[in-house]
Amino acid sequence: METGVYYYYHAPSEFDLKELDIIRKQYFDESISYDDICHYANDSRYVIRILKNEQRAVVGYLFGIKSLDEFELYQIAVKKQYLKNKIGTYLFEQFLKECNKLFIKSIFLEVDVNNINAINFYEKLGFQKLFLRKQYYSNGDDCYVYKIEVKEAYDR
Ligand SMILES: CC(C)(COP(=O)(O)OP(=O)(O)OC[C@H]1O[C@@H](n2cnc3c(N)ncnc32)[C@H](O)[C@@H]1OP(=O)(O)O)[C@@H](O)C(=O)NCCC(=O)NCCS
Repeated sequence: METGVYYYYHAPSEFDLKELDIIRKQYFDESISYDDICHYANDSRYVIRILKNEQRAVVGYLFGIKSLDEFELYQIAVKKQYLKNKIGTYLFEQFLKECNKLFIKSIFLEVDVNNINAINFYEKLGFQKLFLRKQYYSNGDDCYVYKIEVKEAYDR
């Protein structure tokens, strides 16, 4: 990340959701659609957060579902031209800081075994691999299930 540049982390407005969706389409199919995301934004079980740069452009997002004190991270993504600039790390760290307020103690996720960039990213954040889930995706790909304890991540 550029030093001295301020980033805004918050829940998205209706307009922000449209920008978020442009990033989503850079990487993901319609397994989670724009309509799904709009539904999540109006349902308190889900958490959606965005990161904006100083020009107020959305550069990254994450969302997932909260169940009791667990959170399942569905997607995290950074706009293509901002990749490998620690934006994803910063976004996730902002979310970690918020977890206490949201009463979230642990975070789970599934990641495609072929998504090496994301696997590296999650492991660098401190996620621990739990197990392999066979043929998790509609294309037959397997996934790994990862977990991180918020307190341990925060203490790192
Ligand atoms: C995964 C993702 C969010 C990471 O965001 P990012 O801002 O580019 O990541 P960061 O710059 O914070 O990288 C942190 C660490 O992640 C790993 N990493 C990130 N991108 C990587 C890449 N292209 N290749 C290898 N490792 C990578 C590295 O360990 C990196 O640390 P380093 O820079 O010291 O080597 C981003 O690559 C992305 O949006 N991917 C497409 C969507 C996706 O697959 N999301 C995850 C599944 S939902």
